[in-house]
Amino acid sequence: MGTEWKRKVSLFGAFDDYEASLSALSTKLSRASISGGAAAANPPRINRWNRRPYSARYLKLLKKRRALPVWQQKDEFLRALRDNQTLILVGETGCGKTTQIPQFVLEAEGLGDRPVVACTQPSRITAMLAARHVAQEMDVTVGYEVGYSVRFEHCWSRKTVLKYLTDGMLLREAMADPLLEKYNVIILDEVHDRTLATDVLFAHLKEVLKKRPGLKLVVMSAYLEAEKFQGYFSGAAPLMKVHGRLHPVDIFYTQKPERDYLEAAIRTALKVFEPGPPSLRGGPPGRKIVVSTNIAETSLTIDGIVYVIDPGFTKHKVYNLRIRVESLLVSPICKGSANQRADCAGRTRPGKCFRLYTDKSFNEDLQPQTYPEILRSNLAYTVLILKKLGVDDLVHFDFMDYPAPETLMRALEVLNYLGAFDDEGNLTPLGEMMSEFPLDPQMSKMLVISSKYNCSNEIATIAAMLSAQNCFLRPREARKAAGEARVRFGHIDGDHLTLLNVYHAYKQNDEDPQWCYDHFINARALKYADNVRRQLVGIMTRFGLKMCSPNFNSSAYYANIIKALAAGYFMQVALLEQNGHYRTVKNNQIVDLHPSNSMYHKPEWVIFDEFVLTTRNFIRTVTDVRGKWLIDVAPQSTLL
Ligand code: CDP
Ligand code: MG
Repeated sequence: MGTEWKRKVSLFGAFDDYEASLSALSTKLSRASISGGAAAANPPRINRWNRRPYSARYLKLLKKRRALPVWQQKDEFLRALRDNQTLILVGETGCGKTTQIPQFVLEAEGLGDRPVVACTQPSRITAMLAARHVAQEMDVTVGYEVGYSVRFEHCWSRKTVLKYLTDGMLLREAMADPLLEKYNVIILDEVHDRTLATDVLFAHLKEVLKKRPGLKLVVMSAYLEAEKFQGYFSGAAPLMKVHGRLHPVDIFYTQKPERDYLEAAIRTALKVFEPGPPSLRGGPPGRKIVVSTNIAETSLTIDGIVYVIDPGFTKHKVYNLRIRVESLLVSPICKGSANQRADCAGRTRPGKCFRLYTDKSFNEDLQPQTYPEILRSNLAYTVLILKKLGVDDLVHFDFMDYPAPETLMRALEVLNYLGAFDDEGNLTPLGEMMSEFPLDPQMSKMLVISSKYNCSNEIATIAAMLSAQNCFLRPREARKAAGEARVRFGHIDGDHLTLLNVYHAYKQNDEDPQWCYDHFINARALKYADNVRRQLVGIMTRFGLKMCSPNFNSSAYYANIIKALAAGYFMQVALLEQNGHYRTVKNNQIVDLHPSNSMYHKPEWVIFDEFVLTTRNFIRTVTDVRGKWLIDVAPQSTLL
């Protein structure tokens, strides 16, 4: 067994006593049904949004929705919304914030007949799932009355009254429409995540609220430092707490720190639990095990979870200012996250949470809250957007947490090297164009410049392929065959060109999923890349950039493509040292080519897409580039 557990019983939620909580709840429910009685007995028969009679499914779902904790405070919420411009709402995962609150808002008085509501989400998947689920609950079609908008995928229409969108997408909308005038109410959801885009939106919306007294803002969170948020809004935003209905969760800690949390998690999942429950509805008996990233912590509700194993780690994006590298690092979670993970076990009935760390670690080592992304990110893309939003004075912009001045300086420097900002820090025409692409500035620079090198078609493909997931599959049982299949796409000059080969082969084979399967290519990644490419070409065409390709039979075909690549990525190059390792030019790090690279030789200079920090430093997705081409495209200072 190996793991010794120390048990700590703990009750989460708003009530100290479980029995008391049940009786309080039943009182509340009966009160709620009295006050909402008339409406509940005779709900309207015609759907206000599409003028159709409600379906039977609507009524069935309505019954389920009414049982959610937020419904007990619906009137209270609507009153608070009526009386305040900004409102903060805190409630545990699953209480109905994401799905119900936007629907309540649509019923609010004083917002007109057809208000338009935006609700932000921290990820594409939660935005899409929420829109689909709420469209069902509202008995309308997703893409019409309820829609979503995520990077490279837009599913809404002029009829849309409720739009779920990623926080990054709302920020992009603000670039075109700074006062966000098409929305009557904006809901910032899951703000405990403290994503970069949400933090920028906070500061931007604070200004917009002053200019648009009619706009309302609802800030929602599973947990947050309430005082900090209220302080940020100068005490002008009341806090409303939704009383949850959680069951008790027993918490177990390990007696000793675990050396290998993956192994410990598997062991805990297999050896600790009793045999699985009998089958339901004729299916095989057994227990469902969900392996999830921290998306399940607060933004997704998974029914039927009773046991949670919490290894205590998460993968975080971290920007190292000194070496100017952003990478994903495995780091300890915060206390808030640990409690959220445990809460997942008590959603449907009393549960258990196994923490693969000691109680001493929990109490002494874990930070209370998530470290905001703005303090650990490369800000080049953000600074470009802020500039486009008209923010000139970054130092006095009202961030909730201020990024280090050096990080802002680095961002300004990169944008200046790329030609997006002039020496005074003003946006250049090139920068204007770059800001239209929802991509890293290096990539947008490469796209904008590509028609000059007569290879905009190829560069659009490479950018799209880099934006998608890894397209090469490597199933454990067929590693050798997958490796051989991959070699067939390999380009001897490097991985960017290999990606181009894969895309061309995919198109030549009519985007056939069977072909993908046979060649160990991830069909979903290619489909995504194809869609991204279409959108990039759309943006490029809008700017009058010519879509063109060099002559395939000319010796300059690949040279042109690599020159365009270098025009964007000249800060991500490495030089071969005598000892066989590479040294990155901008920050002097010793690195090796990632073993997955497609080249048979070690070129003197390489351009790379990613810096991967593991036990060794690797650069991944690398391509051979001539030193002379770099001198042609890069400002001198970046190569010194
Ligand atoms: O945002 P919050 O965590 O407060 O809850 P929510 O996402 O609005 O979910 C409320 C309830 O709706 C959950 O407890 C689920 O039972 C249900 N739900 C669902 O069944 N399917 C979804 N895709 C989303 C929610
Ligand atoms: Mg939610």
